[in-house]
Amino acid sequence: MTIRTEAAIAYEVGRPMVIEQVELDAPGEGEVLVEVKAAGLCHTDLGVWEGHSPIGATFPLVLGHEGAGIVLETGPGVTDLEPGDHVITFAPECQLCGACHSTKGNFCEAVLSGYGAEPSITAGGRRVFAGYGVGTFANHLVTTSSRLARVRKDAPFDEISYLSCGATTGIGAALIEAKVEAGASVVVFGLGGIGLNIIQGARMAGATTIVGVDINPQKGAMALQLGATHFVDSSTLEGDLVGHLLELTRGGADYTFEAVGNIRLMEQALATARIGWGVCTIVGVAPSGEKLGVLPFDLIMGRKLQGTAMGGVRGKSQLPEIVDWLMEGRFDLKSLITARMPLSAINEGYDGMRRGEGLRSIITF
Ligand code: APR
Ligand code: ZN
Repeated sequence: MTIRTEAAIAYEVGRPMVIEQVELDAPGEGEVLVEVKAAGLCHTDLGVWEGHSPIGATFPLVLGHEGAGIVLETGPGVTDLEPGDHVITFAPECQLCGACHSTKGNFCEAVLSGYGAEPSITAGGRRVFAGYGVGTFANHLVTTSSRLARVRKDAPFDEISYLSCGATTGIGAALIEAKVEAGASVVVFGLGGIGLNIIQGARMAGATTIVGVDINPQKGAMALQLGATHFVDSSTLEGDLVGHLLELTRGGADYTFEAVGNIRLMEQALATARIGWGVCTIVGVAPSGEKLGVLPFDLIMGRKLQGTAMGGVRGKSQLPEIVDWLMEGRFDLKSLITARMPLSAINEGYDGMRRGEGLRSIITF
């Protein structure tokens, strides 16, 4: 049996998405049919759509990987989800492969084969791929159970859809990947939807100096509201940014994060990490092919450089607890959701992102 639904299809690189009726295959072995209730507009989708992301894609494509919804039907072999469950889409955690069995990291072996997995969508007789094997810019989707985390039912869909990538990436980068500790000093470069959540994660960890850096002075107020102790507007700063940050952190930060995707900024983030033990975590996705210039001596001096995808979080096993933290008020997503819109307004939503407006826009169904 096929399922009919409405989806936003990207037919070509950078061309506006088209809202169309599509057909979904019924969920196969290990797959689940989800009614999407909310889907977030993430920067990473923009990069894929415009064709400059290192994450490749095959068009036509239903983009969108941030989503939350309700399970409608499960395919054969799905034992951990049932109709009526509330779920968040996330990078796969199959719980069977070598990587999932290890306690290290969140790179399930299915992640590497995930993007542009077998298409389950048909539009006008043509097969359409689902972004990241998910495709949340549609009222319904079929994906593998490994990409769905079951969460409590009292959590609002719009807020938890943001936990599907952006917010979790930021909070996880601080708490799980970098393991910021109480009393630490932290510098976050870039205060967008991800950087602001790194600030929240650092605050939850008990960091006492939390510096946010952005070229947009409007980001300062929100950073301070969410826990930053200092804001540096690097567009008007006179003199050397790294020197200023070394002074603010009394010789370098215990933890620095780059959440823009700009390699010059990544180099500055490494230079801002404290000699001896400072850890620089790369969160932003730089354009495909760009190379980072690192002086080996900076590393010899005890600085550490690492990267993270999805903040090191394993979706299926760790998102339920992160949703608990949200519901306990330990961090704030409400203030970060600056626009809600129907699927039909998705192109306008992305136009706003290109202009740098707002923090997180959510499609609600
Ligand atoms: N220095 C400081 N801040 C900058 C700079 C710069 N040179 N250039 C841009 N910014 C700021 C912007 O003003 C904005 O506040 O970085 C922020 C980026 O935020 P968003 O556009 O909301 O992007 P976000 O969703 O947070 O993602 C950031 O992480 O996962 C990746 O693909 C994602 O590469 C992207 C990055
Ligand atoms: Zn796995």
